[in-house]
Amino acid sequence: MANTHNKALKAALEWYVDQGIDEAIDNIAIDRRKNSNVKKSNVNISSGKNKEKEKFSAHMISSSHKASLGKSDAWKEAVKLASKAETLEELRIVISEFEGLSLKKTATNLVFCDGNSKSSVMLIGDAPGADEDRLGKPFVGVSGKLLDSILKYINLDRNEQNPKKALYLSNILNWRPPGNRTPSLSEIEVSLPFIEKHIALVKPKILILCGGISAKALLGRSEGILRLRKSWYDYKPQTKELGLDVSAISAIVTYNPVYLLSTPSQKKAVWADMLSIEQKLNDFFSSDNIEGTTCV
Ligand code: URA
Repeated sequence: MANTHNKALKAALEWYVDQGIDEAIDNIAIDRRKNSNVKKSNVNISSGKNKEKEKFSAHMISSSHKASLGKSDAWKEAVKLASKAETLEELRIVISEFEGLSLKKTATNLVFCDGNSKSSVMLIGDAPGADEDRLGKPFVGVSGKLLDSILKYINLDRNEQNPKKALYLSNILNWRPPGNRTPSLSEIEVSLPFIEKHIALVKPKILILCGGISAKALLGRSEGILRLRKSWYDYKPQTKELGLDVSAISAIVTYNPVYLLSTPSQKKAVWADMLSIEQKLNDFFSSDNIEGTTCV
């Protein structure tokens, strides 16, 4: 019995390697053969010659079913925890205790926020990198320095106490993806309830969506950053299950400073985005008065 089981496991592993699947990068296995163009001859499980491989095919179908339930469970848990959090400190705690993202296992620190939580401007990046993972704060590496220097031109500073000049920062993902790989769709999906609750607790007037992942996730759009830039959007949370009452948040999309480091020619475009933000802030402050505290 145990021998048959070991043979089946060995066949499963060989099948993975045959298909080039030699690294786990996600929480959930995706059955890419469903609705895909992968030819049966490539999949090589229906020849009938190899009983072990046929057994494995059945195993794959049942495990992919379990996987989709797993994904849904992680997302439901994220919604439940995010709903419970009534303050930023509570949100930080529930995220740190959430076990639905395997990124937590490979990361060193939770990256939750930096800056002044009473700021009118909240900037949301994509995901922490190595420096952020080490220090537990968003945008603290070379790209963070570049970001700080750009924002200084429009009088926004994460260390500023005056909320009119202050900035609050976070990311879509609170944990660094190993090797700075692009986060998977399921990682973004599971992280969305947390960042949407984060925004609802901070209640900024302006959201700067800094990078393609941030822009697509928070605007619920499929277009790339090139198409999403140069417009103002009315931000609305997509996770209806959170029951958030969020009103009057204007969102703008700009390039991530990590991209600017490799493509400095786009600094001109970012400068145009900054001028647009400055104008929006001037319009807003001409009629408002607010106070602030530092990041939890
Ligand atoms: N650092 C962050 O914290 N977020 C990014 O998106 C890029 C760098």
